[in-house]
Amino acid sequence: MLNTPVNIALSPDGSAVRIIDQTLLPGRLEYIDLRDRESMFEAIRSLRVRGAPAIGIFAAWCVYVLARDYGQEEFFARLDADCDGLISCRPTAVNLARQTNRMRALARSMAGQRVQAILDALAEEARAIREEDVAMCRAIAQAGLSLLREGDTVLTHCNAGPLATSEYGTGLGPLLLAAERGIEIKAFVDETRPLLQGARLTAWELMNAGIDCTLVCDNMAALAMKQGRIQAVLAGCDRMAANGDAANKIGTSGAAIIAKHYGVPVYILLPSSTIDLTCPTGADIPIEMRDGEEIRSLWYEKPMAPEGMKCWNPAFDVTDHELITAIVTEKGVIYPPYDVHLKNLFG
Ligand code: MRU
Repeated sequence: MLNTPVNIALSPDGSAVRIIDQTLLPGRLEYIDLRDRESMFEAIRSLRVRGAPAIGIFAAWCVYVLARDYGQEEFFARLDADCDGLISCRPTAVNLARQTNRMRALARSMAGQRVQAILDALAEEARAIREEDVAMCRAIAQAGLSLLREGDTVLTHCNAGPLATSEYGTGLGPLLLAAERGIEIKAFVDETRPLLQGARLTAWELMNAGIDCTLVCDNMAALAMKQGRIQAVLAGCDRMAANGDAANKIGTSGAAIIAKHYGVPVYILLPSSTIDLTCPTGADIPIEMRDGEEIRSLWYEKPMAPEGMKCWNPAFDVTDHELITAIVTEKGVIYPPYDVHLKNLFG
């Protein structure tokens, strides 16, 4: 079994959602308890909790904790307001809306029952959402590992490890499972500008697992691939369209284009909770735009651009399905044509 800290849980007295504050890593591993809607929304927006499956699990627990405060009369009006608020925090990862709406639909299906009965069912559902993610990540790790060989070095982008999901993660799952089995697979870790999820989080997780990993700037992938240092690109996903187009952290698409040029396979690893068959193609996936300050000054002692400099800061891009060698889900490895196979497996 993996020894990864639990990133999201109900606090022992049930009054808060307890998370690892990912903005403090790698310097400090600190838990914070979130009790009210504003601090929950802030945690999602500021990426204290982040990663597509993780924000879905978090939102599920938030729905339960917030609902503990609703009276019988006002229950569904407040539930709708809080669910809509949670969903509006970030647009790209479909897991946030999917799991929030799953909780809302469960509560609505129990309209007329005692509040306590609804609360009990909501707590059980949130627990189930996490357990399902644990099982899916384990299956993804297993299937993903079948695509790699001992001695390979993979390129990672952003963070698709336990912090972004639960236990094994998606994109990092094969690496963590390999390490557990004594199979040596190394990683080149894209730092992932502008928020550095690779440098701060993926590097932390891989080093904790004792995996040989090397940090690179995002713009070094081409040289590394040209020199034959990378045997595969492994990435997670925030929303996959029906044709296999995959929205993931900004820069994933660039890495995939370079990989195609140098004949390096690109694997996108995701649970079915991240597949959105209502989006026909990647063009239908909303792309989150973030504050330009993240580029200008966030990680620097002094601003690194002239004052007043305009910035364009999309948080995600879409990797066209033609660039993806295989998709790995809990149901195994899927090859093109993705539209046909995704519909057959998940339609
Ligand atoms: O903005 P973030 O840090 O939430 O973006 C996360 C990613 O892009 C991950 O790669 C994605 O959620 C997959 S996580 C299993």
